[in-house]
Amino acid sequence: MTKKIKNNVYWVGKIDWDLRKFHGDDYSTHKGSTYNAYLIKEKKTVLIDTVWEPFAEEFVENLQKAVDLNSIDAIVINHGEVDHSGALPELMKHIPDTPIYCTAHAVKSLKGQYHQNWDFRVVDTGDTLDIGNGKSLTFVKMAMLHWPDSMAAFLSGDNILFSNDAFGQHYATDKLYNDLVDPCELFTEAVKYYANILTPFSKILQRKLEEVLALKLPIEMIATSHGVIWRDNPLQIVEKYAEWANDYQENQITVIYDTMWNGTKTLAEKIAEGICLADPGVTVKVFHLAHTDPNDVITEVFKSRTVVVGSPTIANSVLHSVAGFLHMMKGLKFKNKKAATFGCYGWSGESPKVLKDLMEDAGFRCMDAGLKNLWNPDEKAKEAALDYGKAIAGF
Ligand code: FEO
Repeated sequence: MTKKIKNNVYWVGKIDWDLRKFHGDDYSTHKGSTYNAYLIKEKKTVLIDTVWEPFAEEFVENLQKAVDLNSIDAIVINHGEVDHSGALPELMKHIPDTPIYCTAHAVKSLKGQYHQNWDFRVVDTGDTLDIGNGKSLTFVKMAMLHWPDSMAAFLSGDNILFSNDAFGQHYATDKLYNDLVDPCELFTEAVKYYANILTPFSKILQRKLEEVLALKLPIEMIATSHGVIWRDNPLQIVEKYAEWANDYQENQITVIYDTMWNGTKTLAEKIAEGICLADPGVTVKVFHLAHTDPNDVITEVFKSRTVVVGSPTIANSVLHSVAGFLHMMKGLKFKNKKAATFGCYGWSGESPKVLKDLMEDAGFRCMDAGLKNLWNPDEKAKEAALDYGKAIAGF
């Protein structure tokens, strides 16, 4: 399938309706994804990005229907990760001498993955590729958004920014444009993508957004490599990114826990109740980690001002579901967030302290040493958890 997106620019990507996990099994994709590739047919014919390897043959067959492969003058690879470069080996079997424009880091990643000495043409920020008919592609390095090799390309004349992963969403849709899809679904996936992939690079992103905006490119469309193309008010997603990159938080407190015999669950729910009683204006959400998709919980952490974490004590530590989640959270380098911890125990009772240490190690400011409760909570312990929640609301 090929779709014209503007004048001589065509979408030649793949909609992956069936995808439910991405980055191995590390990122849930409840709504599938797309791998967006684009073909520009001006005086020169240019392909921007490809698709994931399982769809390589299908991609090349589709491309052959849209263009004589031998007429492709240049391939732009904005990012070497396999979901965008995976069809290169199949394509290059047909056109092995076609130059590939990419960053120096992308040469390393493409060589490292495919072990081929293709005709790489290294580009830097501000370099241009004249494609004829008065149009050109200007390259902008997007290092660490989210790989060292990431890059964007701006097509003058049509004023399209091919942004690759930036501003994308794992969202399979046949509608292609932001104004044709459900905005709730779209922004749910866009914020999940930011929270789970881009949060650690927020400071770099802030500087890059300033740099790109200073170029005063007349952007009329942002053609991402996943999900929709932003054509209706395309800068709205740039403004959202600026907001999200600025240590984003809402008036939300999220309680996350795992439990063995429901004692810690009882504490979680009483703590949540206490927060609600003390501050009806705050949004409180409670997640049983072992029963909930971790990427969805990360998105809720991203939106939170305070995160309350609970686990019973087991083997002088905490349940592995909680430990694994906190490890994942640490990697995302959240800033300016607070925390509290809790858990039931039968004899040694280390879990609140272990959780406190883990949360502090992840950059959170903890309220205190945490709430711990011997055996299952009785009425007095439930009252203490309620009061603990009230204290958290004011922290
Ligand atoms: Fe969509 Fe970083 O690959």
